[in-house]
Amino acid sequence: MDISEIQDQLKDVRYPIASSLTLPPACYVSDEWFELEMEHLFRRGWICVGRADSWSNPGSYQTFRIAGMPVVVIRNQDDLVGLSNVCRHRGSQIMQGSGRCRVLTCPFHGWAYDLSGRLISASDMESAEGFRIAEYSLKTFPVEVVDGFVFMNFNDGIPLEYWLGEFAELHRGWMLADQQVADRRVFEVNCNWKQFLEVFNEYYHLRFVHLDSIGKYYEKPDAPEAVTGKFTTQFGLTDKNAGLLEGSQDMAFPPIVDLDNRERRGVRYTWVYPNMAFGANSDFIWSYHVFPRSAGKTEVIQNVCFPSSTLKTEGFEDRSRSYIDRIDTAIAEDIEILERQFEGMKSPYAVQGRFGSLEPCVAHFACWYAGALSKTEASRLSR
Ligand code: FES
Ligand SMILES: [Fe+2]
Repeated sequence: MDISEIQDQLKDVRYPIASSLTLPPACYVSDEWFELEMEHLFRRGWICVGRADSWSNPGSYQTFRIAGMPVVVIRNQDDLVGLSNVCRHRGSQIMQGSGRCRVLTCPFHGWAYDLSGRLISASDMESAEGFRIAEYSLKTFPVEVVDGFVFMNFNDGIPLEYWLGEFAELHRGWMLADQQVADRRVFEVNCNWKQFLEVFNEYYHLRFVHLDSIGKYYEKPDAPEAVTGKFTTQFGLTDKNAGLLEGSQDMAFPPIVDLDNRERRGVRYTWVYPNMAFGANSDFIWSYHVFPRSAGKTEVIQNVCFPSSTLKTEGFEDRSRSYIDRIDTAIAEDIEILERQFEGMKSPYAVQGRFGSLEPCVAHFACWYAGALSKTEASRLSR
C-alpha cells in the first residue's frame, strides 16, 4: 500500500470518535510510512526526552537518536542545551550513552567542544585557509523544561506553551516539578511506537491483559477533558492504590499534598504527543519516553519518580521496590500483547477497526495523527 492510499484511509479517522475507524494497520507496519512519520512528527514539534533532574550537574549529558538524528542533551553552567551530536570536522558521532564530561571531545580527530557546543580546540588545522574555530560550533536545538519534563524542538515555530495548552493546569495537584527520578530504565520492544503509547492510555484492555495483576482496581474512568493542547488526559478512580500489587498495598506512601480528595483516590493517564505518556498516581508518577527505531522496533525510557519529601522517607528503598514490581509486572503483560498485536497487523487481512467507549484517548490521538499526516498537511510541511 502506498503513502497516498494510506492517507485516503486516514479520512475515516475523525470526530466524533463514535463514528471513527481506528488507524490503518499500514500506519504501524509500513517502512515508507514510518519515514513520513519521522519527517513530519519527530523532526518537528516538541519531543519529550526525559526528566530534568536526570541531568543533575554541569556536564551531565544523555545521547539520543531521534528520527535518525544523533543528538546530545547536556547541562552547561546554567541550562539544559540540545546539540547535534555530529562533529563539524567529518561527521563522526561525538558522544555515546550518558555520563558527565567537561568538554565534548570527538574520538576521531580530537576536535573538542564546550558545554554550549562551541568548538574550542582543533589541532593541526593551520593549513586550512580561512578556517575560523568560531564558525564550527555544533548545531543547537531549543530545549525547554515544563513541570520537570524536558522538551526538545528541531524544526517548528510552535511555542511549547501553545503545544501544551492546559497541561499545567490539569496536572497542578501532582506537583510534577517536585517529582524526582528514583529509577530510570531503557528497553526495546518489538512493536510500533504508537502501540506502546496507546495501550498505556486505554482502560479497555485492563480486565483482559491485567486480569490477575492490576486490572480489577480500575473503575469506569471520567471522560477525557476537552483540551486545545497537543495531548490527551483521563482521570479515573481506583479502589486500591494503582501503583502497587494487591499483596503490597501496605507499602503505600502518603498522598501528594496538593491533590484534592478525589484525585487522591485514582490515577490520571496523560499522553503528550507524539512520544511521551505518564501515569500520575496519588503518591508518584511514572513516565515513558518513546523513541521509534523502525516500524517494528521501539526504544523506551521509563522513569519512576517520587515527590522529594517521599524520597527522604525512612525505608524508601524497600517500599519503592514494591512500586517497581507492580510496573514490571504490568509492563511485561503489556509487551506480550503488543508483540502479538504487531504480528497481527502485518497481515494483508488486517483492516481498520472501531473504537470502544474505554479508549477515547487512543481515538483522540488517532484524530490528531490523521490530521498531522493528512495529504494537505503533509504537503504543506514539505514545501
Ligand atoms: S570527525 Fe570529529 S574530529 Fe574528525
Ligand atoms: Fe496495560
